[in-house]
Amino acid sequence: MNPPQAPEILPTHTPELFDSAVKRAAAELRGGGVVAVPTETVYGLAGNALDADAVARIFAAKGRPAHNPVIVHVASIEMARRCVASWTLEAQRLASAFWPGPLTMVLPKSAEVPGVVTAGGDTVGVRWPSHPFMQALIRECGFPLAAPSANPSNELSPTSAAHVARSLGGRVRLIVDGGGSQVGIESTVVDLTCKPARVLRPGMIHASALAAVIGEVSGFEFRVSSSEVLRSPGQLQTHYSPKARLIIMSWADEAELHRLIVTRRLAMGEVFVVAHSHIPLSGEFGRVSVVPHDAEAFARALYAELHACDEAGAKFIVVEAPPEGPEWDGIRDRLRRAAGR
Ligand code: TXA
Ligand code: MG
Repeated sequence: MNPPQAPEILPTHTPELFDSAVKRAAAELRGGGVVAVPTETVYGLAGNALDADAVARIFAAKGRPAHNPVIVHVASIEMARRCVASWTLEAQRLASAFWPGPLTMVLPKSAEVPGVVTAGGDTVGVRWPSHPFMQALIRECGFPLAAPSANPSNELSPTSAAHVARSLGGRVRLIVDGGGSQVGIESTVVDLTCKPARVLRPGMIHASALAAVIGEVSGFEFRVSSSEVLRSPGQLQTHYSPKARLIIMSWADEAELHRLIVTRRLAMGEVFVVAHSHIPLSGEFGRVSVVPHDAEAFARALYAELHACDEAGAKFIVVEAPPEGPEWDGIRDRLRRAAGR
């Protein structure tokens, strides 16, 4: 077998480059190909959502199990309405409040959406992303784009073109570089087919923000057991994991952190610490990174930090436990999954 070809990375930082990347990516997508594209949450691996073969190529490239549905990205309410069988008042209100943005709504699917997108189910997740490139690309294509996160199944989502190139480089020909993802963790997924609406995957738009718009919303409960019927396979606990073992810890001062690590019999030099509040100052750890302590900036930095720890060969990543509060729900969820508990 030939060695995989390096992917082509298309820059977008001038208007001319942006326009030519839109045209190149659209041509590839019209031909049934897949393209890695920037969104404001994480990078996605996009294909024509109305073309079953194109969507099958996405699943193949990611090694994604066929039972995990993918999100359909649109660039107008009208396009969203074409993908769903009924556009409810709740959907309209949430779209007015949060679209374009990091919110995916699960609704009954229309006949136009092929079954491979929804994993054979009768509902579809739709999202209007805010990233300018993604919006321009969908408009240029004229069809919605199916796009899961652009990482091999179960690995950490990418928030830069370089992350995609490292993890999926051999399996994708074209990567569009739209800069670092502004939100940094995956969209909130809310199921509008049940009463009350239910958060299937928390994100930076939290349940109380949704409830302020549509009334009652049942929040997401993290479950260690996956014995319950899987409403959103994103609930699978071994998801979004770095290669290193991630451990969440709280410590009051450096001496306590030191004790906790000794108790776990970890070698100090193998431990990479990601802290937002109690920053260790001694040089005994493999590395210490400081991440911001407001939730939005923390989310934006988190995956890049975990990718960087993996790149640097970390064996253990100790992340300082984030604070309480609904704005941290999505972050706490991703950290627990990454920790596998
Ligand atoms: O922010 C995001 O949502 C990113 C960017 C690229 O838009 N996409 C993303 O896709 O995270 P993915 O495939 O990695 O995660 C989609 C999640 C999965 O947990 C999937 O199970 C759930 O959404 N999902 C998709 N369609 C669904 C449906 N019809 N019913 C229930 N869950 C659904
Ligand atoms: Mg994903």
